[in-house]
Amino acid sequence: MKERIEAILKEIEELKCKKEQEIEEARVRLLGKKGEITRLFEDFRTVAPEQKREFGQKLNALKNAAAAKIEELRNAVGEQGAAAAAFDVTKPGDSLPLGSRHPVSIAREEIVEIFRKFGYDVAEGPEVEDDWHVFEALNFPPEHPAREMQDTFFVTDNEQKNPILLRTHTSCVQVRCMETMKLPIRVVCPGRVFRNEAISARAHCIFHQVEGLYIDENVTFADMKQAILLFAREMFGPETSIRMRPSYFPFTEPSAEVDVSCNICHGKGCNICKGTGWLEILGCGMVDPNVLEASGIDSRKYSGFAFGMGVERIAMLKWQVKDLRNYFENDLRFLKEFETSI
Ligand code: DAH
Repeated sequence: MKERIEAILKEIEELKCKKEQEIEEARVRLLGKKGEITRLFEDFRTVAPEQKREFGQKLNALKNAAAAKIEELRNAVGEQGAAAAAFDVTKPGDSLPLGSRHPVSIAREEIVEIFRKFGYDVAEGPEVEDDWHVFEALNFPPEHPAREMQDTFFVTDNEQKNPILLRTHTSCVQVRCMETMKLPIRVVCPGRVFRNEAISARAHCIFHQVEGLYIDENVTFADMKQAILLFAREMFGPETSIRMRPSYFPFTEPSAEVDVSCNICHGKGCNICKGTGWLEILGCGMVDPNVLEASGIDSRKYSGFAFGMGVERIAMLKWQVKDLRNYFENDLRFLKEFETSI
């Protein structure tokens, strides 16, 4: 009897049925009126009294195992059947949600594309840079505040010579271009930059810039003004005008900040332009002769202009986004607004 119980247990373990009918046949074979287990219960009567306890337990366990297995097989087949019945091949498919470009990518590509049309190349540089490319070669004096820990993320000790740091602007890529490219140079350099700033609606520790550089013989301030005006009209519409305000950057002389006429109120004054009719979009200037010389360019023969703009800022102005943090939080309700702009 013991061997038979074990043989049936093994059979139950290995039992596989794909169809309802096969399960029913297995049930009848094991638990039916003339089933193997039922017959074992009949034989139980003849078991010696001192063995009744042991065999009784074994038999009950066998019966339970058989019933559980039948139940398990039924459930499995039932689920498959239900799924098969619910699957209607003639139904139209579910549309999968499609991702969209990030607004910062859209704006960056639009900026780069405009300059590409003007004949500019595109250059990129490393995000982890050295002090030479970010500050020294760009004519930053040693005590300039941007060189402090509060403003710049240092990778190595900022007391050491030429420390490694996260670039705070993409102007460092213009240095790399001047060091390696043949003149004349006409490039835009898009990229991510890092500043040790508290995050707010108007500032973030990570953002994007596009730097521009044009170096040739006889490049003048008027050339720069024209290039920026054409860019502004492509970016913000053909009615756009620009104004330049004198400014200061260590790497340009003279330097200017450029405003575009407010594309919301068209100069009448609104809360986006804070009633001024103007929106600041970039910094620019004639490349300082010191900067040309630091990269081995003869400043008596060559001159050039450079400009730099924040991509998030341009995107905020173009789409009237009020809080910079929207660009970094990946809230789908915000990102979906740009779905059509793929
Ligand atoms: N590097 C400047 C910044 O991050 C932007 C800038 C200003 C770039 C003037 C230039 C420039 O090339 O000429 O604020």
